[in-house]
Amino acid sequence: MSTCEYKPGLEGVPVTQSSISYVDGKQGILEYRGIRIEDLAEKSSFLETAYLLIWGELPGVAELEAFEHEVRYNRRVKFRIRDMMKCFPESGHPMDALQASAAALGLFYSRRALEDPAYIRAAAVRLLAKIPTMVAAFQSIRKGNDPVGPQDDLDYTTNFLYMLNERVPDELAAHVLDVCLTLHAEHTINASTFSAMVTASTLTDPYAVVASAVGTLAGPLHGGANEEVIQTIEEIGSVENVRPYLEDCFERKSKIMGFGHRVYKVKDPRATILQKLAEQLFEKFGRDEYYDIALEMERVIEERLGSRGIFANVDFYSGLVYRKLGIPVDLFTPVFAIARVAGWLAHWKEQLEANRIFRPTQIYTGPHDFPYTPIEQRRTNASEYS
Ligand code: ACO
Repeated sequence: MSTCEYKPGLEGVPVTQSSISYVDGKQGILEYRGIRIEDLAEKSSFLETAYLLIWGELPGVAELEAFEHEVRYNRRVKFRIRDMMKCFPESGHPMDALQASAAALGLFYSRRALEDPAYIRAAAVRLLAKIPTMVAAFQSIRKGNDPVGPQDDLDYTTNFLYMLNERVPDELAAHVLDVCLTLHAEHTINASTFSAMVTASTLTDPYAVVASAVGTLAGPLHGGANEEVIQTIEEIGSVENVRPYLEDCFERKSKIMGFGHRVYKVKDPRATILQKLAEQLFEKFGRDEYYDIALEMERVIEERLGSRGIFANVDFYSGLVYRKLGIPVDLFTPVFAIARVAGWLAHWKEQLEANRIFRPTQIYTGPHDFPYTPIEQRRTNASEYS
């Protein structure tokens, strides 16, 4: 077998053929199933977008109604899962709680009929419906309260904010979050999507697929950057301190969270949409210094790093938006997961349609024919184990 060139992180290596989404990083274009993200953000709901991603085309009126109906009536989570969540430590990270809860769904709905479109649809509906309920439930439980059940007359995103905060949210707040979910629903082959595809390729159940993707999204190099944007803004503290703080970062060559992207070398189109939404929120609920600091950061970074293709990415404004919506910082990544379930499910379905188990190769760098040393002759440093 020939030895291929090793690409750390598989950078630039195609791992699939996919018709789900497309990114042009030079022109700042993102499309889901060929449709520009700007159109979807303006004209479609998150659930409509999820349908598009999973089944390949926008639903008609009756199809969308039926889909929304199915999702609405699948939001409840078994009491055994809620009871299990009550045993989780309240200091645990909500992403860990979500990963465990998503995996637990497999205990209740484990029948694998991956060749049956009805099974695929039921599993997709169930995951889209129950993941927000589980995120909100952990938030209530860790505050010492019983989880708030879903309210059937509320739409998907309104209901999530209702379960999270125990009150029906403002209409603009729910709309803005719904657009955020659309923007985060899919983004070609990133780490968590690849993780979902690898797990799917073994023909395991979809709950294991989503649980593995949640675990991958949880890492700070992937889903966690929006948490760190807020921390950076807090550290900066004032508009006057933006330039000196950033100059210090440039000097130390430290990365500024919420800027730069492996693919986009212009401003992330999702950041542009989110910024407009953030402005609407600030207009309605009051502008605070966080936003002024953010604007000044973007100005200085564009001035200093723009020529190197480093601009604001989606995480820069999503943190600001979620904070303004009253979402706790450590729930930012679980909210990302609620959205990305749509993309993971689309890739799960696509993977099954032309499946081959992932089994890459390696370039072995260890010894051969190494002599076996009997245990009594092996050197041990006793102090290491005392
Ligand atoms: N701040 C300052 N400098 C940066 C930044 C940044 N945010 N991003 C990249 N650079 C610089 C690097 O220091 C490096 O400089 P050098 O050539 O002098 O060493 C150069 O640009 C290339 O950086 P890489 O990390 O190699 O670029 P890559 O394409 O691999 O990384 C990444 C992209 C990981 C997103 C990077 O820009 C980054 O770490 N950004 C901050 C974290 C962040 O916001 N992540 C969220 C991304 S969006 C998402 O995942 C949903």
